[in-house]
Amino acid sequence: MKAFWEARARRLGTQAVTLDEWPLFLNWAVAEVWDRAWRSVDGTFVTLLDAGTGVGRLLHHLKQNSPNVVGVDISLGMIRMAKRLYEDVDLCVMSLDHLGFRDKSFDLVNSAFVVMHIPDAKHQGMAIDEVARVVKRGGTLLMAEEILSRSRAVGFEWPPFWRPLRLNSLTLEMKEEGLDLRRSITGLPYGVLLLLCKLSVITRRSEPSKRLAWLLSTSGYFLTILLQRVFNGVAGEDSMFRALIFEKKR
Ligand SMILES: C[S@@+](CC[C@H](N)C(=O)[O-])C[C@H]1O[C@@H](n2cnc3c(N)ncnc32)[C@H](O)[C@@H]1O
Repeated sequence: MKAFWEARARRLGTQAVTLDEWPLFLNWAVAEVWDRAWRSVDGTFVTLLDAGTGVGRLLHHLKQNSPNVVGVDISLGMIRMAKRLYEDVDLCVMSLDHLGFRDKSFDLVNSAFVVMHIPDAKHQGMAIDEVARVVKRGGTLLMAEEILSRSRAVGFEWPPFWRPLRLNSLTLEMKEEGLDLRRSITGLPYGVLLLLCKLSVITRRSEPSKRLAWLLSTSGYFLTILLQRVFNGVAGEDSMFRALIFEKKR
């Protein structure tokens, strides 16, 4: 998968971490779930790891709450782009399944839309263990990923670089590593998100009405945010993306 992310970094530059081939709604919905989770994490952190930092999209938020942010990513291309923007952040190439840090090194570990992109079960499991291992006792792990609460047909094939996590098995695995689930932040239910995605695709294709497409996609942004707020907690069980906040007890 390293080659896949390197190729994306070369082809898409700083857009390499967004879903270029997918509708805009999905990017907005995903970003809003993480934003809400981040705002709900209190306090400042002496040490913070952004695991799978990509082009450093989230670093400006993370830096505000910690003087020592470390970012790692499997792709050198991504790390180079992040370095150009954040000279003061310690950035290096590293895979989540083998984190070169001591146990309990970080007050906060952020893993945003990374573990869901580790396509085989073995390495995905290793990455989960590793992000849990490096959290300090009393520290926080924020995982924002595609985390399904139950098995369901979703109306499309998962891309090859995509492996959604399962809520129950993830929380159990974390518990074994000494992390308790403190909060779950959810977004739009599958049905609503897919409907918005389809609308977005249709309007993007409609050549004669570019203005209308622009209007719909702009208002669609606000619609997505509004709907996400409305659905939060109401249909959370069926959410496509969610952010989980764990606390390490031991
Ligand atoms: C969708 S992007 C998310 C990046 C960033 N967290 C964000 O939200 O902007 C996924 C990132 O995970 C990285 N990645 C994929 N597999 C990885 C692994 N095993 N170890 C570390 N990084 C990985 C990719 O290179 C890519 O930068």
